[in-house]
Amino acid sequence: MKKESRKFTVTPWKIEGNIQEEDYAKLTKEFGTEPLTNELLERIKKHTGELHYLLRRKIFFSHRDLKWLLDEYEKGNKFFLYTGRGPSGNVHLGHLLPWILTKWLQDKFKAKLYFQMTDDEKFLVSQKLSLEETRNYAYENALDVIALGFKPELTKIIIDTENIKKLYPIALKVAKKLTFSTVKAVFGFDNATNVGMNFFTSIQSAPCFIENKPCLIPLGIDQDPHFRITRDIAPKLGFMKPALLHCKFAPGLGESGKMSASQPETAIFTTDSEKDVEFKIRNAFTGGRETIAKQKQLGGMPEKCTIYHYLLYFFEPDDKAMQEKFHACRMGQTYCGECKVKLAETINKFLREHQKKRELAKKQLGKFLMKD
Ligand code: TYM
Repeated sequence: MKKESRKFTVTPWKIEGNIQEEDYAKLTKEFGTEPLTNELLERIKKHTGELHYLLRRKIFFSHRDLKWLLDEYEKGNKFFLYTGRGPSGNVHLGHLLPWILTKWLQDKFKAKLYFQMTDDEKFLVSQKLSLEETRNYAYENALDVIALGFKPELTKIIIDTENIKKLYPIALKVAKKLTFSTVKAVFGFDNATNVGMNFFTSIQSAPCFIENKPCLIPLGIDQDPHFRITRDIAPKLGFMKPALLHCKFAPGLGESGKMSASQPETAIFTTDSEKDVEFKIRNAFTGGRETIAKQKQLGGMPEKCTIYHYLLYFFEPDDKAMQEKFHACRMGQTYCGECKVKLAETINKFLREHQKKRELAKKQLGKFLMKD
């Protein structure tokens, strides 16, 4: 669905404008999804014993058919998980967001996961990347997925151009039900769009139909339009509609906008060096005042601060500690310089570990890749 409104556009290939917290309710309405309610969170908690901070904080904020999925689960119908990555470069922290929750869901529900690498898609949309390059990135990015700790016995990584034999018969069945007028309406394609892109949604739909079981897809809200199509087609193929759980966009380090690979200076990549991280964080936009005197007098503005947002989204899972940080900033008791130094240290600690696990993942890759 090409969604245009006063301030922003959200499609799987273009996110423009400054999406503010209050815009997510609008997106939910415009996309026709359901808000993630406390009642649903409580139902999840009944099965998991606790709630992940990304759920508690409503960073995952919207869904399709989660209630149905839980009904099925409670009847003894287990679900599988599905998510993915378009390998067009290195992975940044924003990409990790849906995968972090997916890993938690895998652990809590002992759910099988299909993880799709759409090297075909990124070749088709890119003006610059060759198919060999996107395929290489698929293998590189798979290391990041494995480094998050997914269970090899429950996880299958699908690389589209490698596993096409498995996907193609399913994609054909989807494609036969998908018209040009639908992809035009949903994605804004026109006569100049290459025919590969017109077909592509069929490939991204395919993992939903590998098994005729309930399926849950944690994903960024930008990917929802593909699955709106998939869900319309599912019953026509005799399959259940996949349920979706949408996350907000992790913000970049600039004054506005989401973390995006097209603005590398405002995104932290998993492959960044310590110096890169220190540099980017030093230049991050904060909610601080011009001088220390003003900060003391007026207090900071944590709600505008990217450092605060990085803690909220990634690095401070403790709600009480988060509240204390918010309060201290508001009261002018903390200063941007020290918050930046601490965050850079925290990110570098995480990246040192992650990069080590990424290296180890090279040996585990074979256990994760889907074999046709
Ligand atoms: P891609 O590579 O653009 O993004 C991978 C996942 O990361 C999410 N995402 C973000 N989430 C939070 N904050 C951000 N700043 C941010 N940037 C990206 C995306 O929504 C996505 O969930 N075509 C897909 C790959 C794919 C896929 C799937 C994704 C194939 N099958 C099933 C989700 C579910 C793509 O190019 O994702």
